[in-house]
Amino acid sequence: DMELVAKGEKVFKKCKACHQVGEGAKNKTGPVLNGVVGAKLGHIDGFKYSKTLAEMGESGMVWDEANMTAFLTKPKDFVNKTKMSFAGLKKEDDIRAVTEYLKSFP
Ligand code: HEM
Repeated sequence: DMELVAKGEKVFKKCKACHQVGEGAKNKTGPVLNGVVGAKLGHIDGFKYSKTLAEMGESGMVWDEANMTAFLTKPKDFVNKTKMSFAGLKKEDDIRAVTEYLKSFP
């Protein structure tokens, strides 16, 4: 859905201080988000994740839509002591849109 992706690109402005996507994306304060939807939590080699997030990934948990929604709603509730210093997105529409945007970078 192109409209949702376009909306998601706008929402992603809130993430850009810390995250990059697309060709040539690099880890910054946060990990590269290419291919994150559907991947295990903490899949980027060479990024130093919080202990909790790394362990959740090692246990096999993946960034499906439900987990992504929970994390982006309240990062610190979903991943105890996460390093992601971000209050979260209030609107479920924004979360759906940014998730679609991220899916466009497989
Ligand atoms: C982790 C998305 C905003 C810093 C993550 C992860 C996702 C994500 C999906 C997990 C990555 C993985 O498992 O490989 C987003 C989105 C944002 C956003 C969609 C905007 C709506 C931010 C901001 C910052 C930030 C503003 C910095 C102030 C981080 C850090 C991690 C992370 C440090 C690693 C967390 C940990 O190890 O516990 N983010 N993020 N993010 N993000 Fe964000």
